[in-house]
Amino acid sequence: MADLTMTVNGRRISGTVEDRTLLVHFLRENQGLTGTHVGCDTSQCGACVVHVDGKAVKSCTMLAAQASGSEVLTIEGLSDGAELHPVQAAFKEHHGLQCGFCTPGMIMAATDMIRRHPEGLDEKTVRAELEGNICRCTGYHNIVKAILAASEAMAGRAKAA
Ligand code: FES
Ligand code: FES
Repeated sequence: MADLTMTVNGRRISGTVEDRTLLVHFLRENQGLTGTHVGCDTSQCGACVVHVDGKAVKSCTMLAAQASGSEVLTIEGLSDGAELHPVQAAFKEHHGLQCGFCTPGMIMAATDMIRRHPEGLDEKTVRAELEGNICRCTGYHNIVKAILAASEAMAGRAKAA
């Protein structure tokens, strides 16, 4: 068993988990944060992407104990609750989801992608960077459109600030 302490969506938590518990299972089953999905459990699909210390991580590839001491952000904590995060808003506006299964992972991956490219994104870069996120509904065209729109909107906000 391993003791852990971490911040999840701004809330400090601590507990004890089995050494083998994956971060994704800890978040879903222990913390009730079921917005983080499990599509494969083998690092193939990206449905489980969360942020650990600000960076996108497939949470099925990390043990919960390895995230001890870290700040974890899941889809539930992305917006301030008053309004959608710009990436969520862009997915809504550009119809970047169909069944929605891949959407939390896509949005968390996209948010990190935009953070890493403050100069802006182009379609080729978005498609290359989304390589690790699979959409079974194959809605890639609108997902890419949404990410490009969010990137532009967030760059505009940063300039205005
Ligand atoms: Fe983690 Fe598929 S569940 S990559
Ligand atoms: Fe259905 Fe992507 S919207 S898997």
